[in-house]
Amino acid sequence: MSGANRPIGVFDSGVGGLSVLRALRAELPQEQFVYVADSGNAPYGERDDDHVTTRSLAITDYLLSQHQIKAMVVACNTATAAAIKTLRAAYPGIPLVGIEPALKPAAAASLTKTVGVMATRGTLQSEKFQALLASLHGQATFVLQPCDGLAIAIERNDATKIEALCAEYTRAMGPFGLNQEAMDTLVLGCTHYPFVESELRRSIGAHVTLLEGGAPVARQTRRLLEAAGLLARPDAEAMQAPTQFFTTGQVEDLQHAAARWLKLNTSASALSV
Ligand code: DGL
Repeated sequence: MSGANRPIGVFDSGVGGLSVLRALRAELPQEQFVYVADSGNAPYGERDDDHVTTRSLAITDYLLSQHQIKAMVVACNTATAAAIKTLRAAYPGIPLVGIEPALKPAAAASLTKTVGVMATRGTLQSEKFQALLASLHGQATFVLQPCDGLAIAIERNDATKIEALCAEYTRAMGPFGLNQEAMDTLVLGCTHYPFVESELRRSIGAHVTLLEGGAPVARQTRRLLEAAGLLARPDAEAMQAPTQFFTTGQVEDLQHAAARWLKLNTSASALSV
């Protein structure tokens, strides 16, 4: 396989990264992707940095050695915050794209200059996030909400729990809406949360702007591939290769999630790394 026709690796602690994969497939339809859901070791957001970094290294090693990936997308805010520096140091040779909560576009978009941020505890406590927050000092008020349990409820497709947690966390954050000092913009700072938009909308209403990071990550991936001369040519080989799915959890869970959210009927494989 020539350099440009190798696949792109994408990983998350579980099914959340499918929200990023969806944007990647739309932005780069000629590319092949290998997706790894580390559902057997989720959630990352309530674990320490060492756990998340060890897992991120193990998965990247696997994708490089077994799939010869040409680039890597860390489709997880928590893993990006905890491990991207270590990954960049360990794999200087490959384009590596991370994701972080969309605070900057949110501050620019908000008219009330009051922005809600839902993310994992790990992301919100990380140095990387705190530095991002400090860099936007004075541009908006950010209301931060750690969402313990929400990512795992989405992993388990536990509708009752999802509904209860979305209601609880949005209520705890304060008023949403277009009135002065209400949050008119909500950052979904975990890649799992775009999949519970309708549950969130029940509490925050239809007019709050929701921001997720999938599309900017996909555009950044395109830029890095272009710069490295690694964009796939739209030839038959690449067009025909389907996305491959692997999980350290239950294969059925990943298959159901891919069918539900990406409209892909696919078979996932069990992975032990
Ligand atoms: N999807 C991950 C993120 O973007 C985290 C979910 C988890 O806690 O495992 O932060």
